[in-house]
Amino acid sequence: MQISFTKHKLPKTGSVVVACFEDGKFSDSAKALDKELKGALKKAMTASAGFKGKRGQRVVIPAPMGMDYAFVVLLGFGKPGELTHKEATDLGGKIYDCVNGAALKEVTVMVDAAKGSSISEADLAAYLGHGAALKSYRFDIYKTKQKEDAKAHLAKLSFATASDDKAKKTYKVLDAVREGVFLTRDLISEPANVLHPESYAKRVSKELSAVGIKVSVLDEKQMKKLGFGALLGVAQGSEKKPRLVCMEYNGNTSAKGEAKRPLALVGKGVTFDTGGVSIKPSAGMEEMKWDMGGSGVVVGTMYALAKRKAKANVVGIIGLVENMVSERAQRPGDVVKSYSGQTVEVINTDAEGRLVLADALWYTQEKYKPRAVIDLATLTGAMIIALGSEYAGVFSNRDDLAEKLCRVSSKVGELLWHMPIGEGYDKQLESEIADMRNISRGREAGSCTAAAFLHRFIKEDVPWAHIDIAGVTWSKKAGDIAPKGGTGFGVRVLNEFILEEYEKK
Ligand code: BES
Ligand code: MN
Ligand code: ZN
Repeated sequence: MQISFTKHKLPKTGSVVVACFEDGKFSDSAKALDKELKGALKKAMTASAGFKGKRGQRVVIPAPMGMDYAFVVLLGFGKPGELTHKEATDLGGKIYDCVNGAALKEVTVMVDAAKGSSISEADLAAYLGHGAALKSYRFDIYKTKQKEDAKAHLAKLSFATASDDKAKKTYKVLDAVREGVFLTRDLISEPANVLHPESYAKRVSKELSAVGIKVSVLDEKQMKKLGFGALLGVAQGSEKKPRLVCMEYNGNTSAKGEAKRPLALVGKGVTFDTGGVSIKPSAGMEEMKWDMGGSGVVVGTMYALAKRKAKANVVGIIGLVENMVSERAQRPGDVVKSYSGQTVEVINTDAEGRLVLADALWYTQEKYKPRAVIDLATLTGAMIIALGSEYAGVFSNRDDLAEKLCRVSSKVGELLWHMPIGEGYDKQLESEIADMRNISRGREAGSCTAAAFLHRFIKEDVPWAHIDIAGVTWSKKAGDIAPKGGTGFGVRVLNEFILEEYEKK
């Protein structure tokens, strides 16, 4: 689908979308069009019971004889005062759904300044486009036949605005982020026979070097030499060899001292999680192809940063393993020695993500001396029980870091909730024969005890946040700006956090 921004003029072809605000107040374009149509728009609105101009409501009207366009869509924009960047993005997704669902091929959205809202006309146009583009995602590379109603119909979507030049500029940056989100969704959607540690590492090398990111890969031999006992213990049951992929992006070359040190993003990349010997039930196990979601977010974010030429130094480190059952697989009760030197009694082989992250986190701190570390992982089923798919949980050894992330999250609509860490959770990890167990003794607060485990692999002077995205990585139903499936949740919030925290200072 091609998205463009054009001068504020009614189109000559295709269909046209005009805005109506809450309580039936027409935008200037809607008024003008209504006049041209001799009041037909007003009439259609009154005739559609229930249409109040609420955000996302719509009336689709076949254009009368003699008109240039095929359809006129009257679209509810809600209350102008409530039209934020997030709402504009969501609305863009709704516009896409509405016009694509009506099988329209070519559509122009008339954008007028929303008087009384905080968003500029240029931003409104750009974010509407962003939302529409995000919603247009498809993962259909394995479909050899496509049903007619599943096909994408919309080929050209234009936004007509008096601020078209400004909108274009803003959109260019947003589209770089959109590309990152799509890359993440692609990775998450791939089946595990296609995307395994080796193929994944190759794909990252290829796609990220192409945008100027330095990519290096540690293989099994190198990780053995370094002493990655925790990560390797998880990997040992699979014939697919593990990888640790490091991505370096230096967008702030003039930085000195503290500001030069990178932010580190670390991701759990379990390309398939059977649970290992502590095997998972078979119902729904196919979902565990997306247990690499955290790593996918890291890759997509790195891509977006490079594409939009972010002025920040960021490294991405992802631990890639497959958690399999086999005669070589790790046993419950095994004791492994992590790269940090701490030993772990592996009580449950299904609590593997934290073992992978333990070594990846320690390596990140040793190698990059980062100014902060943020890890992302589909770490615990308990996170889904606690927050569902509305919020992801953020745990941190610095309250202000978690609070900042939460604040940014509501701005972009990838919501984060501040979850607790603390002594009480940490205590539950005590082991009789090693430095710690990999799971706690009870079932309660599973996400918090998992975070407590990770915390043991963070140096005290390193600000760290852990985001458990188990509930938000994959969606069983379509959302405003994503079809069902991989959401790419995390790319936009991290991107915005980096922008606010490191680029505006
Ligand atoms: N990848 C899973 C967590 C998960 C479960 C994510 C369901 C998304 C949906 C993780 O490796 C895991 O299996 N965690 C266990 C931990 C338990 C053994 C302490 C869990 O949550 O059940
Ligand atoms: Mn598991
Ligand atoms: Zn897992």
